[in-house]
Amino acid sequence: MEIEIKGELCTGCELCVRICPPRSLAMVNGKARVKEDCFLNCGHCAAICPEDAVTVNALDKDALKLSTVKGGDEWCDYGNFDTEALVQLMRSRRSCRIFSEEAVDREILEDLVRIGITAPSGSNAQRWTFTILDNSSAVIELAGGVARFMRRLNEKAERRFLRFLSKIFMKDMLGKYYREYYTKVKESLDEWEENGTDRLFFGAPAVIVVGMKPGASCPCEDALLASQNILLAAHAMGLGTCLIGFAVEAIKHDPKIKEIIGIPKEERVYAVIAIGIPGEKFARQAGRKKPIIRYGKNA
Ligand SMILES: Cc1cc2nc3c(=O)[nH]c(=O)nc-3n(C[C@H](O)[C@H](O)[C@H](O)COP(=O)(O)O)c2cc1C
Repeated sequence: MEIEIKGELCTGCELCVRICPPRSLAMVNGKARVKEDCFLNCGHCAAICPEDAVTVNALDKDALKLSTVKGGDEWCDYGNFDTEALVQLMRSRRSCRIFSEEAVDREILEDLVRIGITAPSGSNAQRWTFTILDNSSAVIELAGGVARFMRRLNEKAERRFLRFLSKIFMKDMLGKYYREYYTKVKESLDEWEENGTDRLFFGAPAVIVVGMKPGASCPCEDALLASQNILLAAHAMGLGTCLIGFAVEAIKHDPKIKEIIGIPKEERVYAVIAIGIPGEKFARQAGRKKPIIRYGKNA
């Protein structure tokens, strides 16, 4: 059984039965019992039990243990947190594009992953994988793979005939790329070749590639929610981060890049996060575009 209930500890309060989303638990003779195997294994039953009588075998409490950040596994009550501090952190996180060469410790990178996986995931699938590159040469190797792909893409985009075909058969994808990105990408590739300037990862000494094993119901959402946790936690821990969408696109289209970094081919990559000690400081927060806020028809 995925879930076990110690009958001798159960006081029959029913909290676990009421909170269980798939209704896998039931009351039998005044005690909580497992009715059927639980597909979700969210752990709410174990977390709510005042007597600690419930164990969800699929979950590993140690998976969230951090080595560089203090703090136990107590639950933080609703409203019992410094909202101002949280919002200030969120507002202050910015994409970092100047990194120092200093390496980031493996313990910190692994802690970031553990903080990442506190995110929700569709059907609690948690099919995410985190491939860590923790030194500059590994990052440069990945950048080289991405650069080769971008160079080939630029060569295709230069050809008018291929852009014409793309207009007919591929919703003008190549044409759009040519108009929006070609020139900037060419500049970056030329700089990379001429003097090794890294305008892809900005000299970051570490990268976390967030991928998903097959079988998740919402793979993109799961990966990006974990990624946002990583970005915020990294800022709090004194690190800068930048999501590198160009690398994600390159990995999507060129399986050889996965080989370079050792990602199995059946996994799909949704985020590439450059990480390092920031070489920049901002003087202030900047604004955002005005959000569209509307009320629904019958609100
Ligand atoms: C999906 C995604 C892909 C991104 N890709 C890149 C990228 O390839 N290179 C880059 O410099 N920034 C990239 N960014 C960062 C955005 O440019 C940045 O988030 C945006 O300008 C807002 O700035 P901020 O992150 O500092 O608040 C990406 C952001 C997202 C969400």
